[in-house]
Amino acid sequence: MIFYFSGCGNSRFIAESIAQALNEQLVFIPEAEREGHFDYTLAEDERVGFVFPIYSWCPPQLVMDFVQKLKFTKAPNCPTMYGWPSPVATMAGLRKRFSANN
Ligand SMILES: Cc1cc2nc3c(=O)[nH]c(=O)nc-3n(C[C@H](O)[C@H](O)[C@H](O)COP(=O)(O)O)c2cc1C
Repeated sequence: MIFYFSGCGNSRFIAESIAQALNEQLVFIPEAEREGHFDYTLAEDERVGFVFPIYSWCPPQLVMDFVQKLKFTKAPNCPTMYGWPSPVATMAGLRKRFSANN
């Protein structure tokens, strides 16, 4: 399952490419937020990824707000983070978020 946000389309292209290559479901974060969809059930070996742009050295606020509300009924053992263009900066924060949730 790939969660993504894109303001101008770059991250959307990346998210769609990854989802197609890995055969993973795509979730557009603003749409999930609008629909109040925060609970997701993961299959046994399902991978979780995030794709979003970096704004002023940080993930967009709406991405961080969404991650705060996210709940998985089965915790991923090792979430796969696709932060682009600055993956390393965003990985620690998202991992921390997952640890707090599970
Ligand atoms: C207001 C603003 C702030 C940005 N800040 C950063 C940044 O701190 N670091 C970075 O690498 N890119 C930064 N960028 C570049 C975007 O992350 C980059 O253009 C990205 O491809 C946009 O993705 P999108 O087309 O999915 O919206 C910024 C772009 C904007 C518009």
